[in-house]
Amino acid sequence: MKSNKSFDLIQKILITGGAGFIGSHVVRYFVTRYPETLIVNLDKLTYAGNLENLTDIEAADNYRFVRGDINDQAFINRLFSEHHFNGVIHLAAESHVDRSILNPMSFIETNIIGTVNLLNACRVAWGKDAANHLFYQISTDEVYGSLGAEGYFTEETPYDPQSPYSASKAGADHFVRAYGNTYNLPYVISNCSNNYGPNQFPEKLIPLIIRNITRNKPLPVYGKGENIRDWLYVEDHAAAIDTVFHHAKPGSTYNIGGNNEWKNIDLVRKICDLTDDLLDRKPGTAQKLITFVKDRAGHDLRYAIDASKISNELGWKPATTFESGLRKTIRWYLANTEWLKHVLSGEYERYYEQQYSGRES
Ligand code: NAD
Ligand code: DAU
Repeated sequence: MKSNKSFDLIQKILITGGAGFIGSHVVRYFVTRYPETLIVNLDKLTYAGNLENLTDIEAADNYRFVRGDINDQAFINRLFSEHHFNGVIHLAAESHVDRSILNPMSFIETNIIGTVNLLNACRVAWGKDAANHLFYQISTDEVYGSLGAEGYFTEETPYDPQSPYSASKAGADHFVRAYGNTYNLPYVISNCSNNYGPNQFPEKLIPLIIRNITRNKPLPVYGKGENIRDWLYVEDHAAAIDTVFHHAKPGSTYNIGGNNEWKNIDLVRKICDLTDDLLDRKPGTAQKLITFVKDRAGHDLRYAIDASKISNELGWKPATTFESGLRKTIRWYLANTEWLKHVLSGEYERYYEQQYSGRES
C-alpha cells in the first residue's frame, strides 16, 4: 500500500515514455537511487509502452504513473498545474525507423508536436523562475545522418537526418534549442547510439532475432548486412542520463555511445551462436535461419559515436561489456516468454506481416 508521504516540498521529476524500453530502465534507476525525489511517469501506453516493465518498483513511495498523451496540450497543462516539476526527462516518442517509413505522420505528431507541447508547459509553469529547472531531451545519434567507413559523430557534427524518424527527432531537438535561446528555458540534450537489453520491443533487431531463433523462423537481415551500429547496454544509458541530468551545464549537449561497432551480419551471427550455446544446441543451428531480405529504404550505412566529451567532462563510461550484456539480454528473453506474449498483440502481428512478407531477396 502507498504511504501518505508528502513530496510537496522536494524534487519532482517528470519522466515521459517511462513505460517503454529505455524509459522503464531510467524510471527504475531514478526511483531506486533518489528515494526523496518523486518520479512521475507519464506514458500513453502505445503498442511500445508496457507497465509490466515496472512491476518491481510500482509500489515505491516515490513513484506515480499517469496515463496520458503528450500530443494533448490541455492535458499536459493540467498535469503541470497539479505538480510543480523541477525537471523533465523526455523520452516519449515513436522510436522505430521502419514504422516511420510506413507512417511518418505519427512521428511528426508525437516527436515534434508532443515535444513542443511539453516545452510550452515548462515555459508557462516555470516562468521567470526557470533557473533551477531543467528540460532534458533524450535524442539519438541518427540526427547526424550516416557515416562512411571512417570518422565519428561529435557534438559539433551538423544535423543531417535521413529518415522520417530521425528528421522528427532532429526537429524536436531544434525546438528545444530554440526555446532555450528565445525563452531562456534551461535544457540539455543527449544523443545516444543503439541501446540493447531486457524489455526492448521485439520489432528492433536484437530482440527480433532472439525471438525468431526460438521459433525457428527466418532471421531477416536487411540488404547484405553490411550496415554498422554502435551498441550500448540500456542500463549504461540510464546511468549516463543520470550523470547528464545532475551534472551537465544548461544549454549543453552530450553524445553517448558504447564504442562498440558491429556490422549487422556479424552481430546476428554472434546472437545465433550465443543463443545456441544458452539453449544447449548444436553450434551453427541458428545461423542456418539467416535470410537476406530487401533493404530498408534510405538505410543509413554507419553510426559511430565519439563519447569523449561525456567521459572527459562528466566521468561517465559504459560499465557493461558487450559479451556479458548480450548474454544477459538473451537469457532475459529466453526466461520472459510471458512478457513477450503480452506485448505481441494482434497489432504487432499485422505490422510484422506488412513489414516482412514478400521481402526475401
Ligand atoms: P520505445 O518505443 O520503447 O518507448 C517509447 C515510449 O513512449 C512508450 O512507452 C510509449 O507508450 C511512449 N509514447 C509514445 N507516444 C507517446 C505519446 N504521444 N504520449 C505519451 N507517451 C508516448 O522507445 P525507446 O527505444 O525506449 O526510446 C526512448 C527514447 O530514446 C526515444 O525518444 C528515442 O528516440 C530515444 N533513443 C532511443 C534509442 C534506442 O536505441 N532505442 C537510442 C537513442 C535514443
Ligand atoms: O541509433 C539510435 C537508434 O537506434 C534509435 O534512435 C532508434 O530509436 C532505434 O530504433 C535504433 O534504430 P536502428 O534503425 O538502428 O535500430 P533497429 O534495431 O531497427 O535496426 C538495427 C540495424 O539492423 C539497422 O541497420 C537495420 C537492421 N535490421 C533491423 C531489423 C528490424 C535488419 O537487418 N533486420 C531487421 O529485421
